[in-house]
Amino acid sequence: MKLSDLVTMNFEIIAVIQRLEIPYGFKDKTIATVCKENNIEVNSFLHLAQWFNDRDYFPQEQLIQQSPTWLITYLRNTHKCYLNYQIPRIEKEIEQLENYSDLPDRSAQLMIQFFKEYIKEFALHIEEEEIKTFPYTIDLTATLAGKMPIETFHKKYKGYSIDWYMENHNDLDEKVYDLQSLLLKHIPPLSSNCQFSNLLLELYRLGKDLRDHTLLEDNVLIPIVQQKEKELYVKFKGL
Ligand SMILES: [Fe+2]
Ligand SMILES: [Fe+2]
Repeated sequence: MKLSDLVTMNFEIIAVIQRLEIPYGFKDKTIATVCKENNIEVNSFLHLAQWFNDRDYFPQEQLIQQSPTWLITYLRNTHKCYLNYQIPRIEKEIEQLENYSDLPDRSAQLMIQFFKEYIKEFALHIEEEEIKTFPYTIDLTATLAGKMPIETFHKKYKGYSIDWYMENHNDLDEKVYDLQSLLLKHIPPLSSNCQFSNLLLELYRLGKDLRDHTLLEDNVLIPIVQQKEKELYVKFKGL
């Protein structure tokens, strides 16, 4: 099947293409060819595409079987989009609320403050994953493959395990829904509501996407790493 046909069938797959770093301009190439050219496991791509087509289908078992490399690339590129594009856009739109003359006093500032606090929390969450969890996963995989000495690995990640991440990993989507609900319920009828409706839709999309993101981290990344930790323990018992 041609990749362009798959995208035409469901445009949401554009997100998978961006996150797996598949360059645009794929002409009439098949999915298999594009994946091969870009070093992507075709099965990972197809499972993700199927999930995007049918939200009730979450291919947890199949995704756990794949190498974690694609998953880290996918999650990192998702982080980049949130931080460099989606969040700043929403922030700008929330700041625009101050220009709405029909809003009750201070409500715009309160929303802005709420979102600024959320951005701080969001950035810390992502930083933890980028600085600790993802490098840990990559180095754990390298150590198992004999590409990193076990001593170096132990020294670098002394006391760290994926259980720590699992216990401290929180949902990022809840506050987005809180904000969405505050805006929806408490903003009075506006004389012009096009921009405001767009803000609500952006928040809805972000919340939905964050839920998928957390689902991948909790249900694919964590089990992969737990399995690799077990393998490492068996392989280097006593070291
Ligand atoms: Fe993340
Ligand atoms: Fe996360």
